[in-house]
Amino acid sequence: MADEQLEQFEGAATIEKIASLCRRRGFVFPTSDIYGGLGSSFDFGHYGVLLVQNIKSEWQRSMIQERDDMVALDSAVILNPQVWVASGHVGGFSDPMVDCRTCKLRFRADHLATSQCGRKPSKHPGEFEACDLTEPRHFNLMFETYVGAVRDDASRAYLRPETAQGIFVNFKNVTSSLRVKPPFGIAQIGKSFRNEITPGNFLFRVREFEQMEMEFFVPPDDAPRWHEYWIGERRRWHLDLGLRESHLRVRAHDADELSHYSSATSDLEYLFPIGWQELEGVANRGDYDLRQHSEASGTTLEWIGHEERYVPYVIEPALGVGRAFLAFMCDAYDEEVVADRPRTVLHLHPRLAPVKAAVLPLIGKDPAMVERARALHADLRRSMSSEYDDAAAIGKRYRRQDEIGTPWALTIDEQTLSDGTVTLRDRDTLQQERIPLEGAKRLLVDRLAEA
Ligand code: GAP
Repeated sequence: MADEQLEQFEGAATIEKIASLCRRRGFVFPTSDIYGGLGSSFDFGHYGVLLVQNIKSEWQRSMIQERDDMVALDSAVILNPQVWVASGHVGGFSDPMVDCRTCKLRFRADHLATSQCGRKPSKHPGEFEACDLTEPRHFNLMFETYVGAVRDDASRAYLRPETAQGIFVNFKNVTSSLRVKPPFGIAQIGKSFRNEITPGNFLFRVREFEQMEMEFFVPPDDAPRWHEYWIGERRRWHLDLGLRESHLRVRAHDADELSHYSSATSDLEYLFPIGWQELEGVANRGDYDLRQHSEASGTTLEWIGHEERYVPYVIEPALGVGRAFLAFMCDAYDEEVVADRPRTVLHLHPRLAPVKAAVLPLIGKDPAMVERARALHADLRRSMSSEYDDAAAIGKRYRRQDEIGTPWALTIDEQTLSDGTVTLRDRDTLQQERIPLEGAKRLLVDRLAEA
């Protein structure tokens, strides 16, 4: 942890610049753009899809592949609606809202100090004389839908607002079919939906998003220790993938902030350009969920060992894929002047970078250079994501790769044809080294593995 806490984001990024780069370079587009979009909903383009895949596979690697105490799950988005009654979401998953009778806008009661009234000049709701705010009312964040041909109360269902409940209701299936024993975890990645009243800040708060959640089942007495352990593990994951230590902190929730299910929660907060905000939550959910579902379903959800029987406590690290995407982009984004020319660069960790290597023939119209470059690209792409580019001047091609965060560029030039070497350019140091074409793939595979 940094000794002194920063007050402001250190770097060139703003949310607007990241959103603009994402659109310009094909990472993220506003959804249904040609119809005017749909408030705070986004589509991922080619490089965005690759970055998202890399974030998810790093999470799966550390959560599942590298552990003996974890299993995977992929549960349905639409569950039996009783799940959400038992979990407390039908009754309690709501934000306090106030409406303005004058301007007809709706605001979160606990965000009035940071919300903008619809009138000009911009002020906070309640600050104009004409503002006429209602008392706070609770607004449930779950999207409703109907299952089957008839639309009535009996067919009402919900799009899941968290993936966690799909895990709890599978506790018995998992413990009876797989060789698990507390302490163990069930990890899943999937879409969640919340009808957020004040979405915004690009991918930070949206209505449709992916979550990476893990529920770790432990003997009740061990829960505090495991809670600390998972806070440490998750913090290390973010740092290993390149987030600056000074931009990451752990903040324990005060009692009045805790969710209805939680007995202790610590947020991993990231210093976004908009200030310190929750990046990931690590909660001690106690035995709340398993007990609720046992009671409501009539199926006892507990651990039965040889000489023991108990309802496990649950430690839950929960991270939004889009929120992690935004944090990695903010941290990686930089603007520099190199040899009197400006460049925008994403210093993404090589394991996260959408494209690992660019293969560039110096002269795009030279058949011999093109042939060598295409052959190298064809070989490289079998081991990593590689891109071939022969259009435009070489400087422009480098800058394009810098802007999408490609860590390495291999350039085939005149000398390659005579001595079989290529130039390897490093995105961050801008150093260029001459390496044998033959060994180029091996070298990059090794560098990626060591990164
Ligand atoms: N199962 C626990 C749970 O869902 P949460 O704090 O509401 O806890 C966990 O959500 C994480 O999911 C958050 O830390 C954030 O990364 C992400 N998240 C939550 N709501 C989001 C939203 N509206 N848009 C984007 N990400 C969101």
